[in-house]
Amino acid sequence: MRIPENKIEEIRAAANIVDVISEYVQLRKRGKNFLGLCPFHNEKTPSFTVSEDKQIFHCFGCHAGGNVYKFLMDYEKISFIEAVQEIAERTGITIEADEDSSEKQSEQEILYDINTTAAKYFSDNLLIKKDGESAQNYFHNRKIKIQTMRTFGLGYAFPTRDALVNFLKERKIDFNKALSLGLIGSGSDGRLYDKFAGRIIFPIFSPNGRVVAFAGRVFNEKEGTAKYLNSPESSIYTKGRILYGLSHAKDEIRRSDRVILVEGYMDLISLYQGGIKNVVAVSGTALTDEQSTLLSRYTKNVVLLFDADTAGIKASMRSIEILLRRDMEIKIASLPKGEDPDSFINNFGKDKFEEIIKRSVNFIEYQSAYYESLGMFDDVSKTAEAIRDLVKPIALIKDELKRNLLIKSISKKFNLREKLLEAELEKAIQQEGKQITADERSRLRVQTNIEATTPSQISKKASPAVYNLEREIIKLLFEGDKGVIEFIAAHIPPEEFLISVHSKIAEIVYEACTKGDDVIAASLLEKINNDKIKSYVIELTFEKHQTSKKWEEIYPGAAYEVILSKVVRDTIKKFKTSLIEARIAENHRKLSSAETENERLELMRENVELERSKQKLKDELKIEEESL
Ligand code: GTP
Ligand code: MN
Repeated sequence: MRIPENKIEEIRAAANIVDVISEYVQLRKRGKNFLGLCPFHNEKTPSFTVSEDKQIFHCFGCHAGGNVYKFLMDYEKISFIEAVQEIAERTGITIEADEDSSEKQSEQEILYDINTTAAKYFSDNLLIKKDGESAQNYFHNRKIKIQTMRTFGLGYAFPTRDALVNFLKERKIDFNKALSLGLIGSGSDGRLYDKFAGRIIFPIFSPNGRVVAFAGRVFNEKEGTAKYLNSPESSIYTKGRILYGLSHAKDEIRRSDRVILVEGYMDLISLYQGGIKNVVAVSGTALTDEQSTLLSRYTKNVVLLFDADTAGIKASMRSIEILLRRDMEIKIASLPKGEDPDSFINNFGKDKFEEIIKRSVNFIEYQSAYYESLGMFDDVSKTAEAIRDLVKPIALIKDELKRNLLIKSISKKFNLREKLLEAELEKAIQQEGKQITADERSRLRVQTNIEATTPSQISKKASPAVYNLEREIIKLLFEGDKGVIEFIAAHIPPEEFLISVHSKIAEIVYEACTKGDDVIAASLLEKINNDKIKSYVIELTFEKHQTSKKWEEIYPGAAYEVILSKVVRDTIKKFKTSLIEARIAENHRKLSSAETENERLELMRENVELERSKQKLKDELKIEEESL
């Protein structure tokens, strides 16, 4: 779908960013802005700022920022179009279906469409087609009801090698796109074939419920084929950012304030069918930091329910560390030997399953029981090692009180002196601290890289003074005042900015103003299509005006507009003065290397002229100040 630009702006203007963000983040009014704990990184003191005037947000800690669309995209992990649709729904604005269907859909939308078409095709194979009977029987044998097959969009890919290829051909679907989505493959002879042929299909959904990928399971177990085949990553699918079942489970996770983490697709589906709906599956891979962040937005309480085999235990241990870093409360539940969540719920039912969850233990108990089962506490040297391993994850917890309680519980359990454990903890914390500063450093590096795209040129052309003044002027362009922009545009053409990024930004803002578009920061940002420049602007607009403070002191209680217009004039004049000073300095340099007398004379004449205009500007500034 393509939504016209003015519609996007109309929808954005109808929503107040403060109201929207308040639904997700607790905001407090602080001066002109609103302040809260940033949902995009872990913090204890609020640095997440929302400006009602500018209708944008910015986090001083992690540098996230943008308008209301950007907030929803980042928070809910949805596409731009989805964010627009969501705000449209909230504000009651209807987006008409595209009148002009020849308009180009966005690349991602096309991919979503192809996946949706394929998912419907697979589902029809399973539920409607005669040839789908065997696959349906397979699910029946595994106690999956028809309604559940519908809920999860389960399907079947016929074993003939080109059934889907032919279907896509009929639908005139772009094969290159189907190839990039991994639905079809191309053989060594160039012939196209169905990647999932002969498999039962599990569509994988985004948190918002769109089909981003597929998993296909063999059901006529054959030697040498992988049990599951997954779609490759694509522009709509990043494996580490998706949790299977989240779109189905998210409401129940929020309501119950708890999530159960399982390993397999079938585990999740059977639990859901059995009435346990706050479940997501990590589907075979280790939990990633991004998945953990994603979960932490719905709840802080996680129950790990992995298989009791070695792979499952290893996965639990790794997941514990990742979740601890996100301040999650972790419990570990265990099933009887030989059962997995899928078999357990089918064999014993919901009540027995809930008992298992109730009996879950904290990670210290879980890990020590595991070390015990390995016989590590029978041997003195191994005991020391095991205890060190137990203390390590505690160092990841930020809450000191929580850490102390856990240390106490270990000390009691193993009859060890607390002091000893505290010393181990201290070591582990220092180790972890080093890790964090390394992360911090790399974050700073990224930041400097962004800046490097902007003021790097200043070393050659602009002095720090000019650079700072240009930044002040750009800030003023984002004050949301048409008069201010017109005034600046009349005095400083885009090419007069020495920093090329500033020229670009000015050009965009001037153009929007001339066209009569809304000049509020949130709306101007939408017109900048370079992400680096966008975040540069956001950082800038949340900085204080360097000159404004002075004006407010000189003229206390003056109307905002009056002060603003003074600041604008003041800044422009200082900027022009600095430009002249730079040219004078440049001429002085040239003078010393000038070869002919004529050249020298010309340069000196120019400098006299420059000094004169500089003085004129200075006088004007003085008069201006005195007239206040
Ligand atoms: P059933 O055997 O049908 O009960 O499936 P399951 O989901 O219980 O599978 P299992 O417990 O063997 O594996 C857990 C999860 O690991 C699966 O749901 C898959 O996500 C993943 N997995 C297992 N085998 C494979 C494989 O061969 N390839 C890939 N890519 N993933 C796999
Ligand atoms: Mn299983």
